[in-house]
Amino acid sequence: MLIGQITDIHIGFEPDARPEELNRIRFRATLARIVEGPNRPDMLVATGDMTDRGDCESFERTAELLGACPFPVYPMVGNHDTREALLRAFPDTPSADGFVQYEVERGGLRILLLDTLEPGRHGGAFCETRAAWLADRLRERPDQPTLIFMHHPPVVAGIDWMDPVASEGWIARFGEAVAGQDQIVGIHCGHLHRPIFTMFRGHPLGVTPSVAPLVAMDLRPIDPDTPDGRDLITTEPPTYALHRWDGSTLVTHYERVSDWRVLASYTPQLQGMIREMFAERE
Ligand SMILES: [Fe+2]
Ligand SMILES: [Fe+2]
Repeated sequence: MLIGQITDIHIGFEPDARPEELNRIRFRATLARIVEGPNRPDMLVATGDMTDRGDCESFERTAELLGACPFPVYPMVGNHDTREALLRAFPDTPSADGFVQYEVERGGLRILLLDTLEPGRHGGAFCETRAAWLADRLRERPDQPTLIFMHHPPVVAGIDWMDPVASEGWIARFGEAVAGQDQIVGIHCGHLHRPIFTMFRGHPLGVTPSVAPLVAMDLRPIDPDTPDGRDLITTEPPTYALHRWDGSTLVTHYERVSDWRVLASYTPQLQGMIREMFAERE
C-alpha cells in the first residue's frame, strides 16, 4: 500500500497573481506527478498549511484540484489554516471535540490524523483534550500498527526561526501520549518546509518538505533583533512523500518535482545488471 503525503501547499499566498500564483503552479505539478507517475498512491494525506490565510476561497481552490484525484484525499489543518474553512471545503472530513482529528484504516494500517492548530499562533499546540483523544485511540488498539500524521513536528530541528523550544507544554503532552506505544510505526509531519529525519520518544519521525517554496537550509542561530540578510525561503523544487506499507514495515520515499531528466532506462543493455542484482538475493 502506498500513502502519499503532500504538505504546506500555501494556496492564496499571492491572491491576485495572474494568471496563476507560484504556489498553485507548484501544486499542479506535484499532483500531476503523483497522479500520472508510476507510483499512484492508494490514498493521499495533506498535512496542513493547505492555504496561506485560511480563507474559504483558497480552500475552495485547493479542494477543486484535490477533487480530481482518483484516490481518497485526507486533509488536515496547519497553523495557516482555519478549521471552519477546511470543513466547509471538505465536508466529509470527520472532527472530534471541535478539532480536525480523525482516523482512517487501510491495508491493516491505522492512520491517525492530528490537529496541532492554535489560531493566532505560528507554532504547534496540543491541549489536554487532544492529548486525551490520542491516548484513548492508542489505548483502544495497542496491537494495531499505527501511523501518525501531524502538521507541527514536536522537535527542535535546528532551523532556529521555525523551531519550538523543547520545553513547550504541547510537546510534553504529545510525548506522554505516544511514549511506550510500540504499535506506532512512524510520525510524519510538515510545517518546516524541509526534509528532516529524527526520532521522537523512540518512534521514527519524518518531516516531508513543502509543495510551496522551501525554507533555506541554515542551521545557524538567529537573532530576532538583528536581521543578518540570510536566506529564509528558496525556490528548491516541491517535494512529496510516498510511505510504503508492506504489512510489517513502513518505508518512506521522497521525490522532488522539477525538470530533471532520465539518464538511464531499463533497456536490454542494462538487463544484465538487473539480473545480477536479482541473483544476489537470498
Ligand atoms: Fe507551511
Ligand atoms: Fe506551518
